[in-house]
This record gives sequence, C-alpha cells and structure tokens, in this order.
Amino acid sequence: MKQDSRSSASAGASKARDGFTSSFGVLAATLGSAVGLGNIWKFPYLTGTNGGAGFLIVYVCATLLVGLPVMISEIMLGRRAKSDAVTALKKLAPAGQPWWLISAFGVLSAFLIMAFYSEVAAWVFAYVFKAIGGGILSSNPQVTSSAFGKLIADPVQSLLWQWLVLALIGGILLMGVAKGIEAVTKKLMPILFLLLVVIGVRSLMLPGAMQGVSFLFTPDFSKITAGVVLTAVGLAFFKLSIGMGTMMTYGSYFRDDQNIPATTLRVMCADLFVSMLAGIAIFPAVFAFGFKPEAGPSLLFITIPAVFASMPMGQLFMVAFFILAAIASTGAMLSILEVPVSVLSERFGISRPRATVLNLLVLALFGATCALSNSSMADFKLFGMTMFDLFDFVTSNILMPLGGIFLCLFVGWVWGFERLKAALSNEGRLHNEGLVRVLLLVVRFVSPLLILVVMLKGLKLF
Ligand code: PHE
Repeated sequence: MKQDSRSSASAGASKARDGFTSSFGVLAATLGSAVGLGNIWKFPYLTGTNGGAGFLIVYVCATLLVGLPVMISEIMLGRRAKSDAVTALKKLAPAGQPWWLISAFGVLSAFLIMAFYSEVAAWVFAYVFKAIGGGILSSNPQVTSSAFGKLIADPVQSLLWQWLVLALIGGILLMGVAKGIEAVTKKLMPILFLLLVVIGVRSLMLPGAMQGVSFLFTPDFSKITAGVVLTAVGLAFFKLSIGMGTMMTYGSYFRDDQNIPATTLRVMCADLFVSMLAGIAIFPAVFAFGFKPEAGPSLLFITIPAVFASMPMGQLFMVAFFILAAIASTGAMLSILEVPVSVLSERFGISRPRATVLNLLVLALFGATCALSNSSMADFKLFGMTMFDLFDFVTSNILMPLGGIFLCLFVGWVWGFERLKAALSNEGRLHNEGLVRVLLLVVRFVSPLLILVVMLKGLKLF
C-alpha cells in the first residue's frame, strides 16, 4: 500500500492510503465499474432502436478512438496524484489553472448518473424477486408491460427499492476500497461472466436465433444520423465510466507496478465482450419468439421477461438473468459513488463513514426525482424530458464528452510527452515509448476534435 504524499491536514493523510491490493483486484474493480447496466440495459436497447450492426460499428470506433485514450489518460492521472479526483487535478496542474473543474463537474455527473442509475438498478433488484415469485412470467408482452408499468408507476415501491439499493452500495463502500470494493467485485465478476455465457449459449440454441445474430452483425447504415453518432460516443463514455472522475479515482488506487495501457485494453475488450454476449443473449431470443428489437428502455423489463416465458426452463434463466444484471449494476454503482465519497473524505477531511452516509442521504432525496419520474413527478419536465431522461441525456451526451475533451487537452498540451512517458512506462520499467507517442498524438488532436465535432453536430449546434 502507498503512503499518502499529500501534506494537507486531512484525517487520512498520515495513515497508509487505502487502495487495490492485487493485480486481479485492480482488474475486477475496474471491470466491475465498466460493466454494468450500460451493457445489459443501455447497449441492447440503443442497438435495437438505432438499427443494429451499423450502430455497433460506430460504437466500437468511438470506443477505440475516444474511449481507450481517455480511459488510459484518466487512470494515469489518478495514479500519479494518488488522491481524490478534485485534489488530483489541483496537484497535477500548474498553479492557478482551474483544471480541477473537470473533476468538480465529474462530481456533479456522479450525482446525476447515480440518481437515474440507482432507479434502473432498483427495477432490476425488484425483478430478481418478481422472477423468483413468477409473477412477471408471461409470454404475452401486454401482461409483462402492465406488470412493469405497475412497478414504475408506484411511487412507494419505486422509492423503497431505490433506497434499498443505495443502502446496499453504501454498506459496501463503508468497508473501504480494498475490503469493500475490491473484495466484492473479485467475487462477483466471475459469477457474472459465468451466468452470461450460460444464458448466451441457451439463447443461441433457440430455433430462429440466427435472425438475431444477423441483426447484431449485418450493418445497415441508413439509420446512422449525427444524433445517433453522438449517442454512440456517449455510450462509449458511459460504458467505460470515463469523463467524470471515476477512472481517475480508481486509478489512484492502482498499484505502481500495474501496466496501465495493458490493463485498460483488457478492461475495454472484456467490456465489449460482455456487451456482445448481452446482445447475443437478448436478440436471438427476441427474434426467435417474434418480438421487436426496438422496444427502447423497457426492452429489458417488458420484452425480456416475455422472451424467457416463451422458452423451456424460462423462469430459471430469467432469475439468473436479473441476478446477473443486479451484480453488474452493483460494481458500477460502487465506482460512481466512490467519486464524491473520496472527494469528501480526502479533500475535506470528513471521515469515510460520514462521507458515505452524507452522500447517501443526499442521493436518497435527489434520486427521488428519478424514482418518481414515472409517477408523482411524471409531469415535471425540463426541455421536454422527465428528470430521469434529462439526467441520462445530459451526462452521456454533454457532461462526460466535455470532461473527455478537457482531459485530453490537459494530458496532451499541459502534461506533455516526458511526463506521459514516465507515468505510462512505470518510470522506464516498461518499454512502450511507441505507444506513448501514438497516445499523445491521439489525445492532442484526434479525440478532442472528434468529440467536439460529434457533440456540435449531434446537438445540432452547427
Ligand atoms: N460503466 C457503467 C455501466 O456501463 C456506468 C458508469 C458510468 C459507471 C459512469 C461509472 C461511471 O453501466
């Protein structure tokens, strides 16, 4: 474990700083952050509504050209500074330059994301129990649709499930980074992969499954508009948990001998693999039973139960599927909430338990705007969107890409080659200079320009 090098008078400054203890732990936690409802809920429904393989190709390009470089940069900055995200940029930037604002907006994003994310997770947790009880198991989408409608239109259930989820995440965070986040994700990630493979194989064995596979892999570019490209870029940010401080925070828990580019590449590939598997688990089944892929956000909660009800041993697979989604959402939520928790506890010297509870309380109130977006607050709209949709849209399409642009500019133009090389080669121990040169070029020009153009076009600002 590393010594905190910060000289401020905060509570933890003299003690060894908490962090990930093993290479597998680093991988499990980082992957646990990346893999989440983004793969199992967002990716399938966005792919479904935006035409399948064409969207997938744009998304993969965005992941490579923008996602990977930003993710490497963010983790690197975090490890260099070994502190919470706000302090990190204060430490690393030349005195007086306000780069720390990137992290301050990151904290805001963390709250906005957590507000709607914890509600989707709430539905997922509720569905684990509903699947066990069998109440939502019907091959008639009208029945599954009204069951879902009942859940989200019930303010009490929506709120209680959300608070339950928040309490669970808070409980794990209270245990700390190594004993909480690392220990839990190490246990959960293997289970997640196992369940996903089993369900994917089951889905592929269904008659008519190939139609779903070809939907996922035969591109049709006619549906690709500027807005769709922005959605794909936003998904790449959301998926890799970048542009809002999460990866910087997790990077600060990385060990000094961890190979950052290699770890990041592994996480990115594994994350894509999980999305593919989720697509392979979902679309063949959707087509095999004559459902439509473009159901939107409710795909997971309306179409999927109907699909499972149509297959032999469907209940068992459905329980497994929602447990899988619950696991995935847990790893992601831990990492979202860790951003404000670490800022409060390290920067402001509030003890970790207090910082955790404080954040949870604020979220329990603030998150209610999303929990109630389909009931008591359904008519409360800004820019024509409920708070749920607004927070989702603003974070993925504006705040995270903007955070990405500024991170690239910081690393590319303020930090420069020598520091980048030292940080990514673990002070010369890894021989990856070629890679560092390519990365520098990409973060200086390619990624920021690409994000900027896509944002301006996608938001119809030019
Ligand atoms: N990457 C997570 C997912 O795909 C979501 C997330 C976003 C996590 C931002 C952390 C930060 O579900």
